[in-house]
Amino acid sequence: MPKLRIFGGIALLVCSATGCGLAAASPEHDNLVPGDPTRIEFVDPATVTGLAPRTLSEGEAAGRHVYIGYPELPNAAELNDRLRAEAQRQLRAFREATRAAGYLARPELNVDWQLTAAGDVAGVRLRTGEFRGADWGNTNRTFWYDQRSGRATDSAGLLSGQSALREVAALVRERLKERGQEVDREQVTPDRDRFDSMAFNGAGDLVVEFDDCQIGPCSLGRLAVAVPARQVEPLLSEMGRRAQQAARLAAQRVSVKRPTTAPPVGPVAASTDAGSVNCGRTKCVALTFDDGPGPYTAELLDILREADARATFFPVGGNAVARPELLRRMSAEGHLVGNHSWAHRDLSKLATSKIADSLDRTEEAVTAAIGQRPTLVRPPYGEVNLDVRNVAHEHGLSLVSWDVDTYDQRGSSARAIADRAVEQAHPGAIVLMHDVNRATVDAVPDILKRLRGKGYAFVTVPELYSGQMRAGRLYRSGDEPVRKQPLT
Ligand code: NI
Repeated sequence: MPKLRIFGGIALLVCSATGCGLAAASPEHDNLVPGDPTRIEFVDPATVTGLAPRTLSEGEAAGRHVYIGYPELPNAAELNDRLRAEAQRQLRAFREATRAAGYLARPELNVDWQLTAAGDVAGVRLRTGEFRGADWGNTNRTFWYDQRSGRATDSAGLLSGQSALREVAALVRERLKERGQEVDREQVTPDRDRFDSMAFNGAGDLVVEFDDCQIGPCSLGRLAVAVPARQVEPLLSEMGRRAQQAARLAAQRVSVKRPTTAPPVGPVAASTDAGSVNCGRTKCVALTFDDGPGPYTAELLDILREADARATFFPVGGNAVARPELLRRMSAEGHLVGNHSWAHRDLSKLATSKIADSLDRTEEAVTAAIGQRPTLVRPPYGEVNLDVRNVAHEHGLSLVSWDVDTYDQRGSSARAIADRAVEQAHPGAIVLMHDVNRATVDAVPDILKRLRGKGYAFVTVPELYSGQMRAGRLYRSGDEPVRKQPLT
C-alpha cells in the first residue's frame, strides 16, 4: 500500500458565512485556508509508481510564453489520451486567441496539475492560467478515470446523470445565495462544461469550482462551493461514490501522517565532483537542462554518467515532487540541482509574494529530495525584473540565464540541436536545453563527443565562476566580465 502524504493544499474561495472568499485566488498556487470546506487534499504524485510528468511548450515562438504540464498515469490509457488531447486543445485555443499582435506584455499560457485521487478511481485537475496583457485569468478542469472500467470522464461523470446535474446545480445556487448580488446565480446552469471541475473534500462533500469571471465579476477570482456529502450522495454515479470514499480514506490517512515539522534544511547544493576542474586553465562549458524531470531524464542521466560529464538541472517544482528519485540521482552523480520555479510561470508578471511562494515551494521540494538547498534559480523564459532579483537575493539564489540557446523546443531535430550547441560553444558558455524533450536527449551524446573532441570539460554552473556567485546577480556566461553583467 503506497503511503499517502500531503504536499500542498488549496484554498478555493468559499461561499460561506465565514466570508473567507473575497481575496482573489493566487495565480501561482492556491492559498491555504485551514478548515475551508472547499479545500481538496491532493494526492502526493510521488506515491504513484510509474507516473510521468509530461510537458508541452513551444519555445519562444510567436512572442508567446507557453508551458503546459500534465501527468501520464500508469495503466490509464484513456485518461492519458484525454489529458494529452486537452493540453493540445488548450494550446490551439490560446494560439488562436492571441494571434493578433500588439500585446504590451507577452501573452502566456500556463497549465499545471494536481491529483485529486489515485486509486481505483483517479482524478487529475488541470489548472490553467492565461495572461493576455493585463492580468491572470484562471480556469480549472478535473478529469476522472475509473480503473475498473478503463473509462475516462469529465467531472459530470461523478454524477448519475443529467437530472442529478440539475439537482447539484440547484444546490449550488442555493448555497450561493449567501454571496448576495455579487454572484450571478443565473449563470449556474446544469451544463457539463460549467461543472467541469468537481472533486471531493476529506469529509466527502462535493467541491464544485468555477472559473474566474464565470459566475461573477472577475475581481472575485475563482469561486467554489462545497455541497454537503449527505445531499450529494444520492446524486452520485457508482464511480462517483468510490471517488468520494477514496477522498475520505485519504483524509484519514493524511490526518495521521501529516508532517508536523518543517522540511529539512540541508547544506547548500554542491556538486559531489566540484573542484576537479580548474576552468581558469581548462576550456569549460556548462550544459543546463530545464523543465524536468520528465520521461527522458533517467536516460539523459545514463548518457551523462557514461560520458563522465556533469551538468546543471533546473527542475520545475511540480515535476520534482512527482519524481524525487531522479533529483536524488542527479545529485548523487555529481550534477547540480537548481530551482526553476513551481509551475513555470513568468515570474516577472507575478506579485512579489507569489514569486517568493513559487521559489519557496520548489526549494522545499528540491531540499526534501536531495537534502541540499538550491543556490541557483533559472527564471522561466529568462524573464527577470527587479522584484524577481530582489526575491532571489532574499532566498540566497543566483540567477542563471544562458548565452547559447539550442532552440531545442522549437521542434528541432537532434542533429540541429547538437549543431547549435557545438557551433556556438565557447569557453565559459552556458548552454540552454530541456530534458523533457526527446530530441534534446538524443542530441546529447553527439554534443558530448564533439565538444570533448575540441577539448572541453563539462562542469556545473558555479564551477565556471570558481564557486564565487552572488545571490541576486544574473549570470549569463562564464566569460562575461563581472562589471558588464546585466543587473536585470
Ligand atoms: Ni523552462
